[in-house]
Amino acid sequence: MLNRAILNTFQNLVVNLHIIFKAWYIFSQRDLKMILDAVEAKKKFYLYTGRGPSSETMHLGHLIPFIFTKYMQDAFDVPLVIQLTDDEKFYWKNLKLEEANRLAYENTKDIIACGFDVNKTFIFSDLDFAGSCKEFHKNVLKIRKSVTFNQVRSIFGFTDSDPIGKISFPAVQAAPSFSNSFPQIFGERHDVPCLIPCAIDQDPYFRMTRDVAPRLGYLKPALLHSTFFPALQGAKTKMSSSDPNSSIFLTDTRLR
Ligand code: TYM
Repeated sequence: MLNRAILNTFQNLVVNLHIIFKAWYIFSQRDLKMILDAVEAKKKFYLYTGRGPSSETMHLGHLIPFIFTKYMQDAFDVPLVIQLTDDEKFYWKNLKLEEANRLAYENTKDIIACGFDVNKTFIFSDLDFAGSCKEFHKNVLKIRKSVTFNQVRSIFGFTDSDPIGKISFPAVQAAPSFSNSFPQIFGERHDVPCLIPCAIDQDPYFRMTRDVAPRLGYLKPALLHSTFFPALQGAKTKMSSSDPNSSIFLTDTRLR
């Protein structure tokens, strides 16, 4: 959990504690201490977050990890990679590949509007980058070889009738956690620590990633989890693009 002690260490390293922290929206962490130790030792880390482009625009809930990531990039002046999983939405939703890719570009406009440092931010679609970058692809293959069907079935609940695309996808979401997936940023270095801000629903991907990392000789990624921004239906539900009535989208018009 994110306890007072680790929050105090964090607070000593930043100028202001973000309201998302103060309101305990970020409620849990994995290995945050590794990142804080790196900062104290004047070593760099990098941030990794993402979006699965399933709708024309993002909703207010999606902004929580992105606003928080922007705060972290400003506070620590570090590189950031943002993955748009058009391949994931092609497998999971009733979307043509070209349409999922188009949505990735539409959602990128919302992401850019958060104001990330243009010189330190790499935003990529899986379709356009993950398939064409040899080093990224090598990591995907290594992860796929190290995780069994049994493991992904128990983590993600896959069944015998799921397409093999779904079963092999988690390796693609795991690969950006390892710095040598991005040779244009980190060269051959595989030891730059990674911190992933996301809501708690993404944790299964990164439990798998953390499990496999030592077997590949890589560092486990650290995580900061946020809770869910509620749906319009009430505090106990989650704002979700699958139910447009639950969400305020970034392109919705103002009520007069
Ligand atoms: P996606 O598109 O479902 O969600 C994007 C990010 O928003 C978070 N999120 C929320 N946060 C607060 N309140 C909500 N109601 C809410 N709904 C969604 C998600 O946890 C996520 O952080 N597979 C991923 C894309 C992805 C990714 C990543 C996300 C690829 N690599 C690395 C985070 C980190 C997805 O479909 O996210």
